[in-house]
Amino acid sequence: MKFDYTITELFAGVGGFRLGFERASKKWETVFANQWEPGKSKQHAYNCYIDNIRNDRFNRKNSIHWEEKRVTNEDIATYANAAKQLIPDHTVLVGGFPCQDYSVARTKADGIAGKKGVLFWEIDKIVAEKQPPFVLLENVDRLLKSPSKQRGRDFGVMLKSFQKRGYGVEWRMINAADYGYAQKRRRVFIFAFHKDTQYFKERQLTDKAVLLHSEGYFQSQFPVEDESSTRHLPLSTELHEDIVDLSDNFSFRFRNSGIMIDGHIYSEEVLPKSPRKQITLGDILEKGVEDEKYYLGEQLEDWEYMKGPKKVDRVTSEGYHYQYSEGGMAFPDHLDRPGRTILTSESSKNRSTHVVRDPESGRLRILTPVECERMNGFPDNWTDSGMPHKFRYFCMGNALVVNLVEKMAKELKIIVDNEVKHSKEHEGISNLSFFENKEKIN
Ligand SMILES: C[S@@+](CC[C@H](N)C(=O)[O-])C[C@H]1O[C@@H](n2cnc3c(N)ncnc32)[C@H](O)[C@@H]1O
Repeated sequence: MKFDYTITELFAGVGGFRLGFERASKKWETVFANQWEPGKSKQHAYNCYIDNIRNDRFNRKNSIHWEEKRVTNEDIATYANAAKQLIPDHTVLVGGFPCQDYSVARTKADGIAGKKGVLFWEIDKIVAEKQPPFVLLENVDRLLKSPSKQRGRDFGVMLKSFQKRGYGVEWRMINAADYGYAQKRRRVFIFAFHKDTQYFKERQLTDKAVLLHSEGYFQSQFPVEDESSTRHLPLSTELHEDIVDLSDNFSFRFRNSGIMIDGHIYSEEVLPKSPRKQITLGDILEKGVEDEKYYLGEQLEDWEYMKGPKKVDRVTSEGYHYQYSEGGMAFPDHLDRPGRTILTSESSKNRSTHVVRDPESGRLRILTPVECERMNGFPDNWTDSGMPHKFRYFCMGNALVVNLVEKMAKELKIIVDNEVKHSKEHEGISNLSFFENKEKIN
C-alpha cells in the first residue's frame, strides 16, 4: 500500500474539505474533485470552486489549467463506474454526501435506501476499485438513526460495506459549537481505515472503549470527558454476516461515537469537553451593514408569527383533523451564543432563518452571506463568484464547518507521516539481503 498526501474530494460543493485539508498542511494535495448539481444547467457550486482556483484561494501546486482539469463537473456515477481509469490514486478519499434525504430541513426522510442516498453506492464502488488507505465522510446526524422503522439499519449497511471492502470504521457525531465554533451544526464524521495500514493493525487488538478515549482518531482534536453519558449505556453488537440479511433485520441504537473493527461494533455516548473559548453569533457579525435588503422592514408581524409559539388546526389529505403545535424560538437570535444550523433555505422568509438585531443600526435583519461563510469558517466572500445572492446561502447550507475538517486533516497528517515512516523502514528492511534483513530484525 502506497502513502502520500493526496486527497480526492467527492460531492465537493464549494470545496470545504479541500480548504480544511490545505489549511492543515501545505503538504496535502487534491488530485481529483467532483461536484455536480443534478438537473441544473447553472452549476453554481462548481463555478465557485473553479473561481477560487483562478483567484488562487486554494493551495495551487500546478497551473490553473491543470488544477481546473482535476475538478470534474459530471454525475459521480460516470466516474465511479470506471474509477480505476478515471480517478487517480490517492491516500485519502473525502466527501460530504448529499443530505436532502435525511436533513431536518425536510419532513419526509427515507434514509440511504432513498433516491439520493443511493449515492453512497457510488462511494462504495470507488472505495472498492481504488482502495484508498483512509476515507473521511460527513453526513447529517440522522444517518445514525435512519430509517425510523428500523433504527440504525442504514448506518449498519454502511459499516458492513466498509468491512466487506477491508476497512475498520470510527465515527463521531460532532456539534461545531461544542468545540467553540460559532454554529450549532451537528454532523456525523465517519473515518474508515484500511486493514493494510499500520493504523488498523495497531488498533485491531486494543480494547475499543479504551481506544475511543485515548488513541481514537477524533479524541486528540475533539477531546471528550473520561466518563460517558450515564443516560445511554455503551452498547456492543456484531454485524450480520450477510448484507441482505443485515439490511432486512439489523437494528441498533448507535450512540454518538463508536468503532467497528472486524464486524464487531462498540458504541458509546461521549460528552465533549467544554472549549476554553466560545465564538458567538455576535462575534462574527459584519460591521456597517447598510443594504436595506437585509432588514426586515414592514413584515415584522409575519416574522413574529413564524418565530412565535402556535397551535394550528390542520387537516390531512385523508380528511383527519389534528392540531399542529410548535414552541416559540428566540426572536431575534441571541448574539451571546453560537448561531443555529444554517440551512439551504437561510435568507428566505422562514422560521429557521436567523434574525439578528444589528448592533450598530439597532434594527432587525437577516444574516449576510459573509456572516454565513464565517459561521462555517470559510474566508469572507468565498461564494462571491457571480452566483445569485440566494445561492450563496444555499451553498453555505450545504457546506460544513471548515475548522472541524482542518483539525481532522491535522490528525490525518500525523497518521500518514507515521505510515510513510513505517513503510520506509519496512522497505529498508526488504531491500536488504535475507541475512541482512534477519540481522536488522534481530
Ligand atoms: C452536502 S453537499 C457537500 C458540500 C461540500 N462539503 C462543501 O463544502 O460545500 C453535497 C454536494 O453533492 C452534490 N451532488 C449531488 N448529487 C451529485 C451527483 N450525482 N454527482 C456529483 N455531485 C453530486 C451536490 O450538488 C452538493 O453540492
